[in-house]
Amino acid sequence: MARILVTGITGQDGSYLTESHLESGDEVHGIVRQSSLLQRTRLDAIPALLEAREAGRLTLHYADLSDTSSLVAVMRNVQPDVVYHLAGQSHVKISFDLPEYTADSTGLGTLRLLEALRSVAPDARFFLAATSEIFGEAAESPQTETTPMNPINPYAAAKVYALNLVRIYRQAYGLFACAGILFNHESPRRGENYVTRKIARAAARIARGKQTELHLGTLAPKRDWSYAPDVVDGIRRIAAAPKPDDFILASGATHSVGDFCRAAFAVVGLDPDKHVRLDPRYVRPIDITETRGDASKARRELGWAPKTGFDALVRLMVDAEIAALDGRGEAA
Ligand code: NAP
Ligand code: GDD
Repeated sequence: MARILVTGITGQDGSYLTESHLESGDEVHGIVRQSSLLQRTRLDAIPALLEAREAGRLTLHYADLSDTSSLVAVMRNVQPDVVYHLAGQSHVKISFDLPEYTADSTGLGTLRLLEALRSVAPDARFFLAATSEIFGEAAESPQTETTPMNPINPYAAAKVYALNLVRIYRQAYGLFACAGILFNHESPRRGENYVTRKIARAAARIARGKQTELHLGTLAPKRDWSYAPDVVDGIRRIAAAPKPDDFILASGATHSVGDFCRAAFAVVGLDPDKHVRLDPRYVRPIDITETRGDASKARRELGWAPKTGFDALVRLMVDAEIAALDGRGEAA
């Protein structure tokens, strides 16, 4: 039985990762921050996680990425075998509105956590959720682990810093510090202001007569979309690898935002052209045209490959929204 510490446990990936480790019989600890509402939907709505909390196999600890002493205290109390660092301000457009907070939580937060690890739990394995955003308008397609970094937004710049720190702490101090260079991954638990969840939710709500229009910034950008539980499986493999390294986790396929709309509206038998409106409020100062990842290193060295294709992903997300509207299934 391993002791697992997860930052970002209340997020999409954190909830799937927690479920996965609990299923393996591990003890999971999560960092949560103070907020005025105690409701944590992605943890509270999942019966297995509630049961694990009651049984003492899942424990939440108050800490914040901006508070070094809180991170050291949690690390000292938990004495983890593996730390998954998933927390931080992760919305690209919002990173233009909150550049300093993004740099502090996503960039410096990683530094604080690595320092806490180095001083209190240097034998623990450390995993960072890095991102395809580090490549910006990439110099090559598909992107590999050696594609040059060229960030074009404050979030990506903070993640470049965080990824460089992981590499530095691995080399300088011999820590087991590794990273997943994660391409977009989605699920019914995705945050509501990310485009796939926004589209899936709107398609379902329009089909049920609760909404008439969907406002999006642009339909043109293409992303390499995977299913979050598949990526979480890859994250576990990276953290369990014989040696610390960085791996791309991606599907290798790319689709536009418009493709996602067409596929989602088709699930409920609707024509997106009748409902989708372009809205400048959701346009970014600069945006990546296309991402496409080459996960052959993860396939070769870790035996990882995504199981869920684009059409199945879109369908399961829309079906989940319909089920939630109809009072069935989990509502993240
Ligand atoms: P998410 O759903 O937005 O969750 C973010 C988590 O970070 C939440 O638990 C949030 O807590 C926590 N957090 C934010 N600021 C914090 C702070 N100052 N102190 C403590 N906790 C804080 O993100 P996700 O989609 O699961 O992604 C997980 C990680 O993977 C992120 O680092 C993201 O950048 C990276 N990533 C994601 C994707 C993707 O497609 N999903 C792709 C590449 C990389 P609250 O619940 O309190 O807000
Ligand atoms: N969110 C959002 N809302 N995006 C929109 C909208 C809209 O109304 N309209 C168009 N888009 C476009 C964005 O401009 C972007 O090109 C694309 O849809 C995807 O946007 P998001 O779903 O917000 O994801 P992202 O690609 O910017 O970032 C996500 O993936 C990264 C990995 O590549 C986040 O999860 C990041 O944290 C992650 O690192």
